[in-house]
Amino acid sequence: MIARETPATGRSTIMRPFRVLATARALPPRVLTNAELEAMVDTSERWIVERTGIRERRIAAPEVATSDLAAEAVAAACAAAGIEPTSLEALIVATSTADTLFPSTACWVQHKLGLRGPAAFDVSAGCSGFLYGLEVAASLLQGRNTDVRIAVVGAEVMSRVVNWRDRGTCILFGDGAGAVILGPGEGTTGMLSSCWGSDGTLAHVLHQPAGGTRQPATHNTVTAMAHFVHMEGHVVFKHAVRAMSDAAIRVMNCAGIAPEDVALLIPHQANTRIMEATRARTGVSADRVFSIVERYGNMSAATIPVALDEALEQGRLHSGDVVVLTSFGAGFTWAAAALRW
Ligand code: ACO
Repeated sequence: MIARETPATGRSTIMRPFRVLATARALPPRVLTNAELEAMVDTSERWIVERTGIRERRIAAPEVATSDLAAEAVAAACAAAGIEPTSLEALIVATSTADTLFPSTACWVQHKLGLRGPAAFDVSAGCSGFLYGLEVAASLLQGRNTDVRIAVVGAEVMSRVVNWRDRGTCILFGDGAGAVILGPGEGTTGMLSSCWGSDGTLAHVLHQPAGGTRQPATHNTVTAMAHFVHMEGHVVFKHAVRAMSDAAIRVMNCAGIAPEDVALLIPHQANTRIMEATRARTGVSADRVFSIVERYGNMSAATIPVALDEALEQGRLHSGDVVVLTSFGAGFTWAAAALRW
């Protein structure tokens, strides 16, 4: 460990080397366009594109749950890494749309992959879940044998918790999963710096009110539509920009990286206005921001690993490049990481 800083809004550390051995994604084939949404709620293609940048999103088939997408992504990432899923030390699933309240979605993923043995657990940190999972995995890899492998997957079926009659939210979200396989590294590859934090005083701003112990499912909760996403969009917007840009700047400063040293900035893909405002505050040039939100909408914890996988596929990241990941989500939570590829 080289340096440590504890700012008021979340701890920041320069951390351990690790290697990203492989990435993969799983996206449902069904595409839901803005034109289709026009027929469902009082909205327009123009409004959605102007306010969010989203043109289409993927929607899981009724029989597909979060663990199905997660298992597909993990299996593909293991295959790409040349390892058997049975050799994983741990499987971490970041999600806000768990298959069941218990057991964890990670255990359902194990079930689908026929895995007995690896530790499996979920991380619930809203859209920041994948970066929280990465932080946990990096800590678990510290000082471990070089053959230890950990899978971190962000997976969501947001379409199940969206009120398809609420035009303020249903246009925003999509379904998908992205996975990475991590192993211990050496030298300068891996996590140069990272930070994470949360502010539970804003928990009510973005939440799913019913279905837990606060409001168990009843006829009344169903009638009140309390099992769907409730969001104060303006509040989310303001805090998302500030928290994502502050977190990105913090990891850049902590790692001694100037904006021009960043090969790629991958912000959480909520909407293009949030991403652009975040980018502008970090000072990273517009051509270095990677965006997939136009095609997938907001897939919550899945957006960053899916974007990472697509960036690699498109040749946007090379060995030695610095990529900055930054995220914000329900909680409120935030997290960022600067990785040397
Ligand atoms: N189509 C047409 N009109 C709409 C729609 C829609 N889908 N939704 C809202 N409107 C209307 C409103 O009713 C309002 O009408 P009014 O002026 O007659 O009252 C008008 O459009 C403006 O509404 P605003 O809420 O002010 O629109 P805004 O520009 O703030 O955009 C949005 C709304 C896109 C939700 C924005 O607040 C936002 O992006 N917030 C962040 C939310 C987010 O990304 N959440 C994702 C989860 S959290 C995360 O991922 C970090």
